Amino acid sequence: MGNMKPMSTIEHAMTEHATDKDLESLIHSEPGRVLLEKIRSRTARVGVVGLGYVGLPLVQAVHDAGYRVIGFDVDQSKIDHLRKGESYLKHLGDALVRGLAESDRFEASHDGAVLAEADIVILCVPTPLGDHREPDLKYVTGSTEIVGKVLRQGQMVILESTTYPGTTRDEVLPILNRAAEERGLAIKSGEHFFVAYSPEREDPGRVGMATSMIPKIVGGIDPASGALATEFYRTCIDQIHPVASAEIGEAAKILENVYRSVNIALVNELKIVFDRMDIDIWEVIEAAKTKPFGFQAFYPGPGLGGHCIPIDPFYLSWKAKEVGLETKFIELAGEINQNMPAHVVRRVMESLNDECKALRGATILVVGLAYKPDVDDVRESPAAEIIKLLWEKGAVVKYHDPHIPSFPSMRRYPYKLESTELSPDELASADCVLVVTDHSIIDWSIIARHANLVVDTRNAMGRADIDPDHIGARIIKA
Ligand SMILES: NC(=O)c1ccc[n+]([C@@H]2O[C@H](COP(=O)([O-])OP(=O)(O)OC[C@H]3O[C@@H](n4cnc5c(N)ncnc54)[C@H](O)[C@@H]3O)[C@@H](O)[C@H]2O)c1
Repeated sequence: MGNMKPMSTIEHAMTEHATDKDLESLIHSEPGRVLLEKIRSRTARVGVVGLGYVGLPLVQAVHDAGYRVIGFDVDQSKIDHLRKGESYLKHLGDALVRGLAESDRFEASHDGAVLAEADIVILCVPTPLGDHREPDLKYVTGSTEIVGKVLRQGQMVILESTTYPGTTRDEVLPILNRAAEERGLAIKSGEHFFVAYSPEREDPGRVGMATSMIPKIVGGIDPASGALATEFYRTCIDQIHPVASAEIGEAAKILENVYRSVNIALVNELKIVFDRMDIDIWEVIEAAKTKPFGFQAFYPGPGLGGHCIPIDPFYLSWKAKEVGLETKFIELAGEINQNMPAHVVRRVMESLNDECKALRGATILVVGLAYKPDVDDVRESPAAEIIKLLWEKGAVVKYHDPHIPSFPSMRRYPYKLESTELSPDELASADCVLVVTDHSIIDWSIIARHANLVVDTRNAMGRADIDPDHIGARIIKA
């Protein structure tokens, strides 16, 4: 056993092997014991703040565990949909929202005052970047202010949004303390109210992986908060991994996302290098992944998208600067991934050039606008940047995405498009079909048969089961 020292009570209690007694030993105050009892009897009321991609599936997991749930969002349209039992996130299906609307254990509200009834309040609000890639915590601080207005003894506030280490302790807690002081409440964290962090690991569109099945990391800003949050999540999530502090939880989530960003950048860079050597990266990855240890496959693509991978790593970069350090891997990965849309457009241009055509005036049919397969989410989608670059070069751009009927113009992308049909005529009249997202319902064989030229950023054509005799298009992997 060498130098191993025995575990302290806290260390032992904050492991996945913690027993009921271990957790109880960390909760010393009466409000803490009352909350523990409410959790164990499922009589605790749970408020979920922010009912988007993360908050809505969480509502379901908590509701299914037997709790009464209050959903709160500042977006009135979401509340209206929930009350009517209409889904606004297609990938979750209609049954979830219909079930909630019919339940007497769920209510949705646009009024933050309802959170006064909640014993546990979970924040699932956005954490975007500002104009200079700095963390924009306005939704975290704004929603915490709302909770501060109703904060009371016996409540627990849990942050689930992805953010840099220290946010729960240095941003959320002071707002709650200040709010309590302003309201003349003599309440203290760890004793009268509790604060914890538990990162969300939702992967929208992934089939067969409900929120309750994804292991959950839980860390408190003090031992009692950590123990209560652990006990709560144990009741609704299959597997819990308690950690000794909120900061470890925050850092673990950032590590997961940095890991993805860096590895995706690596294969994106290698794709370009191998391409120059006439080596197909997709075949290389297939070969490398036969190694049963020490290698995990990541795949190249047209650039990063979504709410997490292009954004979260820069939360850490910003925080690292505060302690006088640089995060070179994060910066480099960001640079490589951000250059991918320009690389794709260059490949389109070169492929047209081979046919004596210019990009200016050419019709480019982009297949897939969402940032990943089988979702209707366009946030940070590389397709938007690719379309912008194509436009700027004078191409006539159309798109087809079965999940996104129209693309409204945005500040950064001032064009407005409607999805076109993927018909033989549309395909044949396009100078180039550019595959950006490989939705599973797309008919790849019709593209292979009727398109002239396909530039494929996802190897969708290579992976589809297409009869070689029916491939009329020239297919370029980009
Ligand atoms: N989407 C994902 O796949 C995913 C996965 C893991 C983690 N996360 C993280 O989870 C967090 C939430 O992401 P999301 O994708 O669910 O965002 P989202 O935009 O889908 O939903 C956030 C919701 O919060 C609401 N909101 C904003 N301010 C509010 C306030 N003051 N009070 C109440 N509601 C408020 C918005 O109206 C919106 O409905 C982010 O930190 C994100 O990085 C997202």
